Amino acid sequence: MDPVRNPFAPGAGSQPPELAGRDEIIDRADVAIQRVAQGRHDKSQILLGLRGVGKTVLLNKFEQIAESHNHLTSFIEAPEDKTLAELLYPKVHQVLRRLSAVENARATAHSAMRALRGFASAFKISVGDVSISVDPETGVADSGNLEYDLIDIFVRTGDAAKSASRAWILLIDEVQYLSEKELSALIVALHRVSQKKLPILFFGAGLPQIAALSGDAKSYAERLFDFPSVGPLSREAAELAIRQPIEEEGEIIEKPALDEIIDRTEGYPYFLQEWGYQAWNVAEQSPIGAADVEKASATVLKRLDDGFFKVRFDRLTPKEREYVIAMAKLGKGPYRSSDVADQLGESVQSLGPRRAKIISKGMIYSPEYGDIDFTVPMFDDFLRRTILSAIP
Ligand SMILES: Nc1ncnc2c1ncn2[C@@H]1O[C@H](COP(=O)(O)OP(=O)(O)OP(=O)(O)O)[C@@H](O)[C@H]1O
Ligand SMILES: [Mg+2]
Repeated sequence: MDPVRNPFAPGAGSQPPELAGRDEIIDRADVAIQRVAQGRHDKSQILLGLRGVGKTVLLNKFEQIAESHNHLTSFIEAPEDKTLAELLYPKVHQVLRRLSAVENARATAHSAMRALRGFASAFKISVGDVSISVDPETGVADSGNLEYDLIDIFVRTGDAAKSASRAWILLIDEVQYLSEKELSALIVALHRVSQKKLPILFFGAGLPQIAALSGDAKSYAERLFDFPSVGPLSREAAELAIRQPIEEEGEIIEKPALDEIIDRTEGYPYFLQEWGYQAWNVAEQSPIGAADVEKASATVLKRLDDGFFKVRFDRLTPKEREYVIAMAKLGKGPYRSSDVADQLGESVQSLGPRRAKIISKGMIYSPEYGDIDFTVPMFDDFLRRTILSAIP
C-alpha cells in the first residue's frame, strides 16, 4: 500500500499514531501536575520499563500536558557522560529567564539567578553563551556539595515559579545514567520543595534497575515518588494500536492478521510499530491479511537484527558478549546469575565486575537479587536466532 500514507512510527521517542493503553498513567500525571501547580501535595513519578515500551513517548506527552496548562517545562535526556549539574544549569537558567519576565516574579527570579550563578562556579560549569550577569550570593548553592546546593536551586526556583503562579515540570529521560549520588541529591531536593509546597514536579523515566537506591534517598524516594511500571500493552490496547491508525487512513486489517502481529510482538510498543509499518508496506491492497503479516515478519526480523538488536550487541566487549550469549543459551529469562556462571564455567564472584559493567551499559538488569535479565525485550531470541544458530 502507499508508503507515503503509512501511519506507523517505529523509532526512539517517535510519537505513535495511537498512544494506546496508557490512559491511566497519563491521567495520573495530568492530575499531579494540576495539583502541584495549586500548591497541593502530589507525587513525582519515575516511569520504569524495558527498552522500547514507550517511556520517552510518555514523558513527551507529560511535557505537552504541562505546557497546555501553561506551565514551564525542562526536558533532559541524561547521557552517559555528563553530570547532572551541567545538564540542569542551562535548563534552570532558561526557566528563570522566562520567570523574570513576569512582573510578580521579577524579584524572586533574580534571587534564584544569583543562586544559580554560585552553583555554576561551585560546579565549574562551563557556561558558554548562557552566562549570568548578576552577582552570586555568598553561601547559597555554592558549597560544591550537590545535595545541599540543589536544594537551594530548587527552593529558589520554586519560589520564583510560585510568585509567577506557574509550575516548573522537570522531566529527565534515561535516569539510570545518573549516578546514585546525583539521583539522591535530586530526590532530597524534591523532598524539600514538596515539604514547602512549592510548585515543582519531577517526571523521570528509566530502566527498571534504578529502583535500587540506598539510604535516605531510598526512604524519601519510596514516600515521595510513584514508580509506574510501563510494560507491554494488553491484547486489547495492542489491537487498538494497530487497527486504529489503519482505519483512520480508511483501510482495513483482518482479524487473523491482527492476531499474528499481537503474537509476534507480545504487545511491545516498538515492535508493534515495526510490524504495523512493514505489514502496511508489504500489502498490495487493503484489507491487510495474515499472509501479508507473515511476509512482513521476515523483513521486520531482518531489520531488527541488523539495527535495533545489533547496535546494542555491538556496544559490548567480546567478554561481555560471552556473558549475554551464555544467558541466551539458558532459554527465556530471568536467569540466576549462578546458572550463567555455571554455563561459563566460572564463579559468580569472578563474573561480578563483568556483570556490573553490562548492567551499567543498560543491556541487562537485575529484577531481583541474584537474578538477571535483558533490558531489551526478545534479545534472547535475537541471540539464539543469529549468533547461536551460526555456531555449529
Ligand atoms: N502506547 C503506545 N502505543 C503504540 N505505540 C507506542 C506506544 N508507546 C510507544 N510506542 C512506540 O514505541 C516505540 C518506542 O517508544 P519510546 O522510544 O518512547 O520507548 P522507550 O521506552 O523510551 O525506549 P528506550 O528505553 O529504548 O528509550 C516508538 O516507535 C513509539 O511510537
Ligand atoms: Mg526512551
